[in-house]
Amino acid sequence: MAPTATAALVNDLCVKDLAQSSHLKSIPSQFTFINDSKGSESDSLPVVDFSMLVSHNVDQRSKALLDLRKACEDWGFFVLTNHGIPETLMKAIVDVSLEFFELPEEEKRRYEAKSASDPIKAGTGTANAANHKILLWRDFMKSYVHPNFYCPEKPQHLREIVSEYTEKSRLVLRKLLQGICENLELEEGSIDEAMNLDSCFQLYAANFYPPCPQPDLTIGIPPHTDHGLLTFLIHNGVAGLQIEHNGVWFNTNSPKNSILVNTADHLEIFSNGRYKSVKHRAVVNTEATRISVVIANGPAPDVIVSPSAELVKRDGRALYAPLKYIEYVETMLSNQYGGKGNLECLKIQE
Ligand code: OGA
Ligand code: NI
Repeated sequence: MAPTATAALVNDLCVKDLAQSSHLKSIPSQFTFINDSKGSESDSLPVVDFSMLVSHNVDQRSKALLDLRKACEDWGFFVLTNHGIPETLMKAIVDVSLEFFELPEEEKRRYEAKSASDPIKAGTGTANAANHKILLWRDFMKSYVHPNFYCPEKPQHLREIVSEYTEKSRLVLRKLLQGICENLELEEGSIDEAMNLDSCFQLYAANFYPPCPQPDLTIGIPPHTDHGLLTFLIHNGVAGLQIEHNGVWFNTNSPKNSILVNTADHLEIFSNGRYKSVKHRAVVNTEATRISVVIANGPAPDVIVSPSAELVKRDGRALYAPLKYIEYVETMLSNQYGGKGNLECLKIQE
């Protein structure tokens, strides 16, 4: 392809169309993000069995609490099984998210973000590395779904499926946070209250990663941490999420119908650094289109998040400065994945 044609493609099209454009053998240079997409394998990724966490059997519940605790402390990541969200609903949200990306360009363009506070945003990924704009190998759509519900009008059924899936996710979220509260030896209900979880913020994000001729020269999403408390991720069976653990990138594989959960920035803040927000990234592959559906679960938008007073008392000092949650989210969304993480900015030096 002549350079001018490539530039036009990159400016005008989503990655989906670029990937489908005839005979794409190499990626346009604006996508260059050198990495080794082959992560390490681990046979010991933490698993938390949700049915045991909510069980009335004391031994089972203690075991699940311990698994949850170790997962939060060691990895900041776990595979959640037996969570009770119906398989049909999980499949429906992945399928309808794919349908969104298959809509005509004009329809998707309606949601091109004009500002960070737009509740619905669609587009193709960019990141800044040292003031240098890099294009990412993914298209996305994000919408705020709780406490106020926004969602694109099309495809048909998107709204009802997203609404049902995110409502069920909130129930799972609250049980997990109850467990985390107990593991942190805090008074029952204290996370719920401090984060005002009745109005918890949820963002639904769908990511579309088409096959890529040179996966090691580009990336779906560069290394980052998420805002919020816990992020839930499911996908269409094509792996691509990698988690950093002890300086090594690990592939995550998820048994069918499980949810991949990672700890996020506001759990690190609230826990006064006990539970680190885990760094992760999305890699792409030559073979298959990958769809991921991500639900970011945070405190209520107007909560000013700071470390738990009780934990600060135990530790003798707060390690993070307070900040209103929605401000944090919108600064992060406008910076995309560039520069210094917001969390770094809130750390209080000794
Ligand atoms: C995200 C994210 C990873 C993936 O959307 O924040 O980390 O595998 N996605 O899609
Ligand atoms: Ni993420």
